[in-house]
Amino acid sequence: MKTAVLLLTAALAAPSATAQALDPVIEKKVDALLQQMTLEEKVGQLNQYSSAFDPTGPAPTEGGAADVYKQIKAGQVGSLLNVLGADATRKAQQLAVENSRLKIPLFFGYDVIHGYRTIFPVPLGESASWNMEAIERSARIAATEAAAAGQHWTFAPMVDVSRDPRWGRIMEGAGEDTYLGARIAAARVKGFQGKDLAAVDSLAACAKHFAAYGFGEAGRDYNTADISEQTLRNVVLPPFKAALDAGAATFMNSFNEIGGIPATGSVHLQRDILKGEWGFSGMVVSDWGSIGEMIDHGYAANLKDAAHIALNAGSDMDMESRAYLPHLPGLVKSGAVDVKLVDDAARRVLRLKFRLGLFDDPYRHSDVAREKATLGKAEFVTAAREIARDSMVLLKNDGLLPLAKNVGTIAVIGPLANDKDSPLGNWRGTGVANSAVSLLEGIEAAVSPQTKVVHAVGAALATGQRGFPIEVVYNTSDRSGFPAAVEAAKSADVVVLALGEDAFQSGEGRSQADIRLKGLQNELLEAVLAVNTKVVVVLMNGRPLAIPEVDKSAPAILEAWFAGSQAGHAIADVLFGDANPSGKLPSGFPRAVGQLPYSYSHKNTGRPGPKTEVFWAHHTDLTNDPLYPFGFGLSYTTFAYGNVKASAPAFDKTGSVTISATLTNTGKRAGTEVVQLYVRDLVGSTTRPVKELKGFERVTLQAGASKDVTFTLKAADLAFYTAAGRWEAEPGAFKAMIGGNSRDVQEVAFSLR
Ligand code: NOJ
Repeated sequence: MKTAVLLLTAALAAPSATAQALDPVIEKKVDALLQQMTLEEKVGQLNQYSSAFDPTGPAPTEGGAADVYKQIKAGQVGSLLNVLGADATRKAQQLAVENSRLKIPLFFGYDVIHGYRTIFPVPLGESASWNMEAIERSARIAATEAAAAGQHWTFAPMVDVSRDPRWGRIMEGAGEDTYLGARIAAARVKGFQGKDLAAVDSLAACAKHFAAYGFGEAGRDYNTADISEQTLRNVVLPPFKAALDAGAATFMNSFNEIGGIPATGSVHLQRDILKGEWGFSGMVVSDWGSIGEMIDHGYAANLKDAAHIALNAGSDMDMESRAYLPHLPGLVKSGAVDVKLVDDAARRVLRLKFRLGLFDDPYRHSDVAREKATLGKAEFVTAAREIARDSMVLLKNDGLLPLAKNVGTIAVIGPLANDKDSPLGNWRGTGVANSAVSLLEGIEAAVSPQTKVVHAVGAALATGQRGFPIEVVYNTSDRSGFPAAVEAAKSADVVVLALGEDAFQSGEGRSQADIRLKGLQNELLEAVLAVNTKVVVVLMNGRPLAIPEVDKSAPAILEAWFAGSQAGHAIADVLFGDANPSGKLPSGFPRAVGQLPYSYSHKNTGRPGPKTEVFWAHHTDLTNDPLYPFGFGLSYTTFAYGNVKASAPAFDKTGSVTISATLTNTGKRAGTEVVQLYVRDLVGSTTRPVKELKGFERVTLQAGASKDVTFTLKAADLAFYTAAGRWEAEPGAFKAMIGGNSRDVQEVAFSLR
């Protein structure tokens, strides 16, 4: 094996000042249990399988489920994922607690990403709400449902910052920004875990993927990330740290390599930073098969070597590599692996099981009656509608929106117009296929009884089979639905055209080289516009798209994302003005894929331009700015910013400065604006971005009303990973900027002494 020689004292680093507090009562119990355990039993706790555990299904076969059952009974399995439902989890748990020598309960994990049964907007969409209470609430509801259905642990939140919408998993995170991502990471962790991890409606959260998974080259999933320590510390890690500070019980490592070391085998990430500097006392699970994949990376010679590297590096639990169980006992016996590392990993697993209350009652989450009473509760469905509403971003409006409910005829057209499945998104938990309220249904429910609603697909988005795990095949030739769509548009007072992505176009393994509208969608837009100019485009998608054609020709565009179970109702709420849109993009929309990766928070370079001659940092065939910048989103009212000022020209490290602005609702109706504060550090020991989000506030104002919005900045808010390798603020000149998006800001200078 190739890992650097690891000193055990360093591997089991003394917790740092920020260490997560340990419960002495639990620690005692863990000690006592560990003392009774054989080496094989300790390793068993580190072993996690995916199991379609189905007690009523076909008989388990040799080499398949039967072996898993045997291993559970022998105490060789610590956790299962993908075992669904109170009944199945109870039966799987019985195998462990009624048969294994020490009766150590299993715990069950599942990807509860944006809902378990009641489905909320995809995380990127929900992030557009900038509404931390709403985001926490949706995670709380998801946890309540999943915990009633046997789960103890969700593999969420995904807190990977990504600046490349080609990456299909940008859908699962909070977008391009570190600060917004950190705030959302904390909200999601709090929502999943609730007040007490041992409560029957709590799930242990898992901050993933540690780290830099969102920085895969060319946006290709699983691809190499090669970023500097500065980018790692300043851009990638803060949301993970925020998740940890919010109490995240577990972390998941990552498929990608970073700087030549697979994250799963990275001592630097897991031992030095996470468990050392940050004092993380929870458990790290590998990603699915990522220990074994170190062989493909060319970092481990074989599975035994991979097990050795991963454990040394601090991967506590082996998800489906099947590397630890066969190899760790031998590695310990031969002296290659110190048993203290196995003890430490097993301790982290057992600690979590005690914290979850599983030793008190291993069946606490496996209650069929509670499951039945909890899934899809009416109040959860109402919340899904409210959160979906908050997530929508009005990208363009020439005055066509909001629509009147008593309009004569509305044509609802497009491949996604009556799609009841795509709004559920790709990671839909146990959301029932085709169970979302479609846009057509939402509109039909909202309009006046006199209004005529006509519908035509125009052109299907995909052909043939679609879904998990099949790749979407796009319709590029079947125009047979065009005439009906054109006819419907012709006779309508207004057209609502639903375009975007298939649910399975974004998500894991769904990276794309071209993020323009697929198939015949732009053509359909043109055909409809040719007969009716009053077209509202509603976008449903899991990633930022490159849509210059739509921006140019459609008078109104509403970004609805994959909005979840209540999508159609929530979109109708916004289209007809029952809700005034307030969402802001958590990730900018590029003009073309060639601009990627891109962030508003880029560096200035030595040649920022713009210049009249050619020698500056740009593309000669396109402007540098995105089509819609980070933080952008319109409302049915308008807001004006004024009086941007700093409370003092300078402050010192023990003090603070306030930056304020007066926000006025200059339109004719009440609305909510997300006021955003950005900062630029003008000179640093390493170069600093041209802008960094440092604060935001959602402000609701009646028409004509004004409010002073104030942000307080302390030295800690200006800190970054300096050239000296310290997290601190450097004295000097700064600019603060306030506005309603990352582009349109007003600035004021201040300095730190
Ligand atoms: C692989 C994904 O990368 C990870 O995010 C997920 O939690 C696991 N599969 C388990 O489904």
